[in-house]
Amino acid sequence: MPDPLAQRSIALGVTGSIACYKAVDLASKLTQAGALVDVIMTREACQFLTPLTFRSITHRPVVTDVFDPQSELSIDHVAIAERADALIVAPATAHTIAKLALGLADDALTTTALATQAPLIIAPAMDAHMFDNAATQQNASTLKSRGCVIAGPAEGRLASGLVGKGRLLEVPQLLGCLRQTLGRGGDLAGRKVVVSAGGTQEPIDPVRVIANHSSGKMGFAIAEAARDRGADVTLVTAPTALDSPFGVNVVKIATALEMRSALQNKCAHADALIMAAAVADWRPAAAADQKVKKGSSDTWDIELVKNPDIVAGISTECLIKVGFAAESEDLLANAQSKLLSKGLHLIAANDITAEHSGFGADTNKVILLDREGGEESLPLMSKYDVGHAILDRVAGYLS
Ligand code: C5P
Repeated sequence: MPDPLAQRSIALGVTGSIACYKAVDLASKLTQAGALVDVIMTREACQFLTPLTFRSITHRPVVTDVFDPQSELSIDHVAIAERADALIVAPATAHTIAKLALGLADDALTTTALATQAPLIIAPAMDAHMFDNAATQQNASTLKSRGCVIAGPAEGRLASGLVGKGRLLEVPQLLGCLRQTLGRGGDLAGRKVVVSAGGTQEPIDPVRVIANHSSGKMGFAIAEAARDRGADVTLVTAPTALDSPFGVNVVKIATALEMRSALQNKCAHADALIMAAAVADWRPAAAADQKVKKGSSDTWDIELVKNPDIVAGISTECLIKVGFAAESEDLLANAQSKLLSKGLHLIAANDITAEHSGFGADTNKVILLDREGGEESLPLMSKYDVGHAILDRVAGYLS
């Protein structure tokens, strides 16, 4: 499945906040993803950046003024509004948010926002006190009630030096928001998909854990792919270095037992469970309360007990279950027996010794085995695309 942004027409409104430097990267990433990007800058944004900055990145004209004879808007003032698949205002200042809430159309951006029927995403960026102000809060909720997506702001250090809510979301989050918005009516719309990710950590004492090499990337990519097809996604994840994907409900756990109880809870009303987590098969029988000292002994025996098989133990009447078999030998035979013993609909078998498909890679090469006896060998692809290939099957079972 292609990137939801590919070939889409994205209008990017840039307003006068210092955070507009991030909009340059956003325009670049959108262009790299294959989107046609129309940047509309307000007069104040032009104080921070020049139109040339965006034109160099998007290779398209940048609009700053409806009456500029060079601009297509001077001939057809709603041209961008009509071709846009989405309009994202990033950064959106308090002033522009107020104008949008009022329905003013006094510049190219607000005119486009008023005229477009495409989804409108507003990513606020301002000082925390301006965001907290009742006027801004009310304007944002007015826009929300009209169906606009208010993306952020995040908390953190602001340009004023204040620490609070007002930071523009980071570019990956903004891209995630766009992909989710574009995918709203996808084939998983209205479906609840639960994904597990990461390697569980089993405590030995307050300092040490038994862990594994799982990076969590496969599960996170599946969660994003499901979000981009319209699903309501819950990601139950063991500790990873990855940022939470935009628009996904993230439940953070550490141990296999914690993962089991979170999944049991989340799967009660779910349509599908995709188990990408690397669950520890064993855990220490008892974690020590205090850090175990080195002492004089050269060895240390730790008694391990078996963890429950989570995916095998979860079954509601119509839950579609997908598992992974990460193997270093006898790939297909092992995957086949897991498919049966765990009661799965589908299993993605991957040879962890193969090039570019081991732990931590951004790509994966899997063979899909289904309970009807089908076998499909997929080429090496991004983990996001592997996610879509799995979700094609899930969508098929659900329909
Ligand atoms: O048995 P194995 O660990 O190889 O099985 C892999 C599949 O089973 C994965 O989908 C994994 O998330 C799931 N699993 C589980 N509970 C366990 C161990 C693995 O759900 N205790």
